[in-house]
Amino acid sequence: MAATAQDLATTRARFPGLGRIQDGRPCVFADAPGGTQAVDTAIEAMADYLRRSNANRGGAFATSEETDRVVGEARRAGADLLGCGPEEVVFGPNMTTLCFAFSRSVGRTLGPGDEVVVTMLDHDANISPWLLAARDAGTEVRWVDIRGEDGTLDLGSLQEALSERTRVVAVTAASNALGTVTPIREVVRRARSASPEAIVVADAVHLAPHRAIDVREMGVDALFCSAYKFFGPHLGLMFGRRELLERLEPYKVRPAPDAGPDRWETGTQDHEGLAALAATVDYLADVGRGFGEPGGDRRAAVTAGMEAIRAYEEDLTRRFLEEVAGIAGVRVYGIADPDRAGERTPTFAIRVGDHPPREVAGELGRRGIFVWDGNYYALAVMERLGLEESGGAVRIGFCHYNTDAELDRVLRTLRDLA
Ligand SMILES: Cc1ncc(COP(=O)(O)O)c(C=O)c1O
Repeated sequence: MAATAQDLATTRARFPGLGRIQDGRPCVFADAPGGTQAVDTAIEAMADYLRRSNANRGGAFATSEETDRVVGEARRAGADLLGCGPEEVVFGPNMTTLCFAFSRSVGRTLGPGDEVVVTMLDHDANISPWLLAARDAGTEVRWVDIRGEDGTLDLGSLQEALSERTRVVAVTAASNALGTVTPIREVVRRARSASPEAIVVADAVHLAPHRAIDVREMGVDALFCSAYKFFGPHLGLMFGRRELLERLEPYKVRPAPDAGPDRWETGTQDHEGLAALAATVDYLADVGRGFGEPGGDRRAAVTAGMEAIRAYEEDLTRRFLEEVAGIAGVRVYGIADPDRAGERTPTFAIRVGDHPPREVAGELGRRGIFVWDGNYYALAVMERLGLEESGGAVRIGFCHYNTDAELDRVLRTLRDLA
């Protein structure tokens, strides 16, 4: 991907939202960790479904049968994205709702004497559901710290939090605040050796737009992501190990299916969003095929696409870290060493002088550069770094459609504001 300027132009042409102009200049979308722009084919698939096939499921007529096929195709797409079986893919309105539903079911199996492990690196959507499940079950919560100096998960602290009583380990696969990528396989290895029955739940919402995901290789029991963070529609998806989805009992209405992933899905799903999800996964496969002829193994093409994205973003990350180090007054939280660009995503939490983050984000916004500020629900990270009280941090988040020229414009503007 983006081996040449032409490749990048082809990529950007697929995102109509990137064409937005403010005060005569193109906008810079550096808000990817909050939500990316949607790829053209996802937008079309959504509209096409609503125009031609709009119906509920399970009926004995054409549009309903088409809707059943849309859901089936979305499950296969989710499976190709995550490296699992379609029967292991569950849909919902967003990651937070799915995690609350899942934690509620897991919570029924917990009791006093059990322990749940959460981390300070996580978005609150993978913390609060577990805190509340633990509270309801009278279960103890153990917290894993981060290393303040580079924003990585503290594996020593993880080791201390684990015990033979650990029943759940909820851990982020990548931080939406600091960009840190977690060594998930190592977390899983340690969790299993402390407590073989522990359920390891990974939040891959921030990882999914930046890395290929293989749930089998990661060894996790459940994993969440959100399509609007990886160029698709506003919906969430969950991988659950088949045996676990069958064993646990979801909260559901009586007439809903008693088997398969459907029994985890409450009410009518966002069918147009599911049509768009399949188109989004096809887009990632297109990236892997260099926008050539479609066909072949979609899972392999998606993996190749994500690998190309990773390599491109690693260059962006290294450049940003090298250049930002030269701007007096800008402080990067998390991994700041350009040689460690491979350990993080191009998501940068920064402070600019002693300006409040909201002020900086507002000024960037007025200049057509869209960034986030505050805690982005990574409340524990901001509290741990001592930033919460003073407005969190400015978050500049790039993805594979951002260009070197955009990066330069962001850096120039930061120099101006520092
Ligand atoms: C790392 C991470 N986890 C979870 C969430 C929550 O996702 P959703 O908005 O789909 O509930 C977000 C959203 O910002 C996130 O960045």
